[in-house]
Amino acid sequence: MKKTHVAILGSTGSIGTQTLDIIRAHHDRFVAEILVANNNAELLIRQAIEFQPNTVIIVNEQKYGFVCDALAKYPIKVFTKTESAEQTICGENVDIVVAAIVGYAGLKPVISAIKSKKTIALANKETLVVAGNLIMHLAKHYHAQIIPVDSEHSAIFQSILGEPNAIEKILLTASGGPFFNINSKFIENVTKTDALKHPRWTMGKKITIDSATMMNKGFEVIEARWLFDVKPEQIQIVVHPQSIVHSMVQFADGSVKAQLSEPDMRIAIAYALNFPLRLPLDVKRIDFSKFMRLEFQSSDTKKFPCITLAYEALDKGGNMACIMNAANEIAVDAFLTDKIKFLQIPEIIEKTMNTTTFIKNPDINDYMTTDIEARKTAKKLLNYKNK
Ligand SMILES: NC(=O)c1ccc[n+]([C@@H]2O[C@H](COP(=O)([O-])OP(=O)(O)OC[C@H]3O[C@@H](n4cnc5c(N)ncnc54)[C@H](OP(=O)(O)O)[C@@H]3O)[C@@H](O)[C@H]2O)c1
Repeated sequence: MKKTHVAILGSTGSIGTQTLDIIRAHHDRFVAEILVANNNAELLIRQAIEFQPNTVIIVNEQKYGFVCDALAKYPIKVFTKTESAEQTICGENVDIVVAAIVGYAGLKPVISAIKSKKTIALANKETLVVAGNLIMHLAKHYHAQIIPVDSEHSAIFQSILGEPNAIEKILLTASGGPFFNINSKFIENVTKTDALKHPRWTMGKKITIDSATMMNKGFEVIEARWLFDVKPEQIQIVVHPQSIVHSMVQFADGSVKAQLSEPDMRIAIAYALNFPLRLPLDVKRIDFSKFMRLEFQSSDTKKFPCITLAYEALDKGGNMACIMNAANEIAVDAFLTDKIKFLQIPEIIEKTMNTTTFIKNPDINDYMTTDIEARKTAKKLLNYKNK
């Protein structure tokens, strides 16, 4: 059987390292062909020595020499800069691109992968938040398949597979994050240490803060809107603290289909890598013989205004979600570096959304200028706040 050659954008992150866990466990089926990292040169070097990829790319130019020296005795090509990643993943020897860069930085490589008709295992939800309309249009035009890696979207994808009926409603589950049960008045003073303690998932810092503000769920509503071509009002967030049901789809006869598993991202990553066949995985099984409570309740948009902001961005359309994403990246970074308090995150996002130039029908260049303008606006608001 021909092995599947995998390019991993963001190999040093949470999704990237778990993708390599799967490749390690199934080296008879997969080859790590290209590994792309930003700053973590040490881990990239260790990964390269273990997996012997054709190419590694360290985006941060200052670390390029260090990586070249460390890999000099191996037959591994080493490049730097984002453009190298965009070019190399288009090569004939790549079968699937795992898009696991965090944030807006993941957008351009995904566009390159689509244009070269690659199958994309998409973890980088910001790509669809920023430019969902454009991305889905390009994917259709270039016949590039996008397989979701986000556990919720993987569950929805699996629930509609082979289903000839239209989706009536998507029930997008949410763990609720670390602050779901905290009284609103205490949220004001939560610290980054509190916010980084996710009750169910171990993930990169940015998505963990997005989960605490529930912007992550807002992003996922936008992601679902584009991936499954549904209207925003067909997507309902359902808080499910156990994170066993990864999302559900309701049909016209009231039937609901779901995908369940223990919370482990390797399940969704492996499903995308080996689609449509499931890989045997050494992950915990749900034990239905034990007493198990599965709870579902509605989300609290007053306590978590980022959810409302995401629905507003969808409603407004154009470049509004791109503005929201840029402001969120700046605000989350400011929170992680102790420049602002937790509740200032939605404040900064909302103000940036209200003041950045709105474009009704953006093209790729408009998204790029919007991202720059929104970041500038959000940074100005930060300076003002810290005076
Ligand atoms: N983690 C999860 O369980 C999970 C679940 C669902 C969806 N997602 C989505 O998957 C994406 C990745 O999340 P994560 O948790 O894996 O994040 P993470 O742990 O922070 O990893 C991010 C990865 O992106 C790389 N990176 C950052 N900026 C880059 C740039 N400009 N160019 C190239 N590489 C860059 C990082 O490289 P360095 O480390 O070398 O700097 C790292 O490899 C996010 O969009 C997130 O929303 C994650």
